[in-house]
Amino acid sequence: MITISAIKADVGSIGGHTCPSAGMVGAARAVLGEAVGKGLLTDFAVTFTGDDLCLLMVHRNGSACPDVHNLAWEAFRGATEVARAEGLYAAGQDLLKDAPSGNVRGAGPGAAEITFDEAAPERRAEAFLVFTADKCGPGAFNFPLWAVFTSPLYNAGLMLPVMKKGFTFRVIDMEHPHGDRVLDLVSPEEHVELAILLRDENRFGIQAIHSRLHPSQQVVAVSTDRLHTIAGEYKGKDDPVAIVRTQGIFPAPEEVVSPYGVAPYVAGGARGSHTMPLMPVPINTPVTGPYCLPLVACVAYSVNREGKLSAGVDVFGNPVWDAVRLKAQEKGLALREQGFVGAAMLPMTELEYSAFRKSLAELEDRFRTL
Ligand code: 13P
Ligand code: MG
Ligand code: MG
Repeated sequence: MITISAIKADVGSIGGHTCPSAGMVGAARAVLGEAVGKGLLTDFAVTFTGDDLCLLMVHRNGSACPDVHNLAWEAFRGATEVARAEGLYAAGQDLLKDAPSGNVRGAGPGAAEITFDEAAPERRAEAFLVFTADKCGPGAFNFPLWAVFTSPLYNAGLMLPVMKKGFTFRVIDMEHPHGDRVLDLVSPEEHVELAILLRDENRFGIQAIHSRLHPSQQVVAVSTDRLHTIAGEYKGKDDPVAIVRTQGIFPAPEEVVSPYGVAPYVAGGARGSHTMPLMPVPINTPVTGPYCLPLVACVAYSVNREGKLSAGVDVFGNPVWDAVRLKAQEKGLALREQGFVGAAMLPMTELEYSAFRKSLAELEDRFRTL
């Protein structure tokens, strides 16, 4: 069995919430490189999207392995030390605990992991995509994943015999603080039930998707922790990571990325408090747009049976995405013209977790009933 673990955290950034420094990336790489030497990992890649570092680790230890999660924590701590020494902004931002109990979930970083049998006859080669998003929550993946796995409008491949049977979606209630409150729904029969839940991207997220034709085959994993559910207050946006396996019994990469052409409005942006479009960007792009336009990067990899990664292909780095980038910028500017008003800013229930609630509370005290 081979496990792909993508663990992501913001542990400091240059000049505000832009991007980690080269020194931070180097520190994380050094920790993971040592783990390859010791045999804990077979391979790894370190990238960043906005101010979040993503550790992509390949190994044979299964999902939620304490040694691998502790290793990720060590890599983030190493990068935090560099951020502190360099005087960077918000050093250690997402490390909400002193040390995790063998699993980073619930401690601040986001984790997406898939374990598979590299010798399964239905998977002759292993191809997958890693999506990393900044300035938005895990619900940002609700629309693109729903579209790819339930709608032939976005994915004509769903009409093929290998995909016609559909997929099982595990939906998680991200507002539930203790343990994972989940519901399994199947497509195509329950695609409307899925839509009923997934339209609320602040509460419900897709945690995993499995093939119904090959139920042991997991095709999608999304990090679905929400920092405020852990910390009880706003500590930065949750900035999710997703793994999507592709080809053969699964959608092709060109189908998986098709909904990103919409540049959908998502919850996020500046102070995690606004409605803003999601712009596809090259990997290792800093955040510098007005009101922190949410970003999503996508890297395509192959992994061989020895657990060695190919070089990554930067999917959204291609100029074919330039038109979508322009569309996202125009959609963002259009909504920002109405500033904080109505749909431009998130509902109070979301802002409750931020210091905006203190400003509101001061006014609440001054109300009187006549
Ligand atoms: P991050 O969650 O990416 O740190 O961004 C926080 C924020 O509020 C930016 O305005
Ligand atoms: Mg940050
Ligand atoms: Mg971030």
